[in-house]
Amino acid sequence: ALISLRQLLDHAAEHSYGVPAFNVNNLEQMRAIMMAADSCNSPVIVQASAGARGYAGSAFLRHLITAAIEEWPHIPVVMHQDHGMSPAVCQRSIQLGFSSVMMDGSLGEDGKTPMNYDYNASATREVVKLAHACGVSVEGEIGCLGSLETGLAGEEDGSGAEGVLGHEQLLTSADEAEQFVKDTNVDALAIAIGTSHGAYKFTRPPTGDILSIERVKEIHARIPNTHLVMHGSSSVPQEWLQVINEYGGDIGETYGVPVEQIVEAIKHGVRKVNIDTDLRLASTGAIRQYLAHNPSDFDPRKYFKASMVAMSDICINRFEAFGSAGQA
Ligand code: G3H
Ligand code: 13P
Ligand code: ZN
Repeated sequence: ALISLRQLLDHAAEHSYGVPAFNVNNLEQMRAIMMAADSCNSPVIVQASAGARGYAGSAFLRHLITAAIEEWPHIPVVMHQDHGMSPAVCQRSIQLGFSSVMMDGSLGEDGKTPMNYDYNASATREVVKLAHACGVSVEGEIGCLGSLETGLAGEEDGSGAEGVLGHEQLLTSADEAEQFVKDTNVDALAIAIGTSHGAYKFTRPPTGDILSIERVKEIHARIPNTHLVMHGSSSVPQEWLQVINEYGGDIGETYGVPVEQIVEAIKHGVRKVNIDTDLRLASTGAIRQYLAHNPSDFDPRKYFKASMVAMSDICINRFEAFGSAGQA
């Protein structure tokens, strides 16, 4: 069944669990996520980015998600729009039937330029009014995702972005978080604690100085009734990096957010955990491996099957670790 983000996260808070939010771009990701959710009886958040809409088209994405709801009617599904860069984009998704939208006013529409507080709060407030009138939930973001190691915000390829940000921007303050929730009435709040999007998050296994679970605790203590969201929360499995590199890939040494750290954050108010990169890595690794082992095969269903199994395994692991398994 389609449910709103607010409905799901209220239940998650009441029962002290977190829910992974997986990005979807195609049929294989959608089925992998749903097969995993079905096998461990977990509710799920599936989210579509602007990049996903560009790749698959809005209509296909919408129908992929509604098809999943039809095929697995017993699984609660939140249909979420990831990183809406303007109120207009959010409005469009509400019209399309999404049950939740993210208004990301932390960065400008280019996805790179940090925006000021007033712009972010007023754009988010506008979306909340519109969305709540339609029974749709809203996630906002305060603080800019980015690396505390390099001061770089934004980019996914490890090459860095425009401006170099300071600690004040890369770590959300409890004061600002509190004010922002008051000013906007968002249902869920994404905070910056040192994670960034993509595979190149940390050059070493993260310690407290570059991944601040302490900051999660501080913010949660200040706004205990706000559901917190962690972006950039792929764990970047070393096993899959190895498989990719063993079968012709070339990905440099890099580290993600350890699952144990996410589990700790879930004890302190994190309810939605965004994961995209891990499924990309598993999918690519599985396809490279399959094709290397089966050089005469050319039926895409065979290697996509291998990719789905690999993605599903990651999903099952996260549903179990975050405690959403068994909660559907
Ligand atoms: O926000 C980041 C997600 O990983 C989505 O990535 O914009 O390439 O679809 P994308
Ligand atoms: P990852 O790149 O760590 O998977 O993060 C995804 C994300 O935050 C989507 O909004
Ligand atoms: Zn994100």
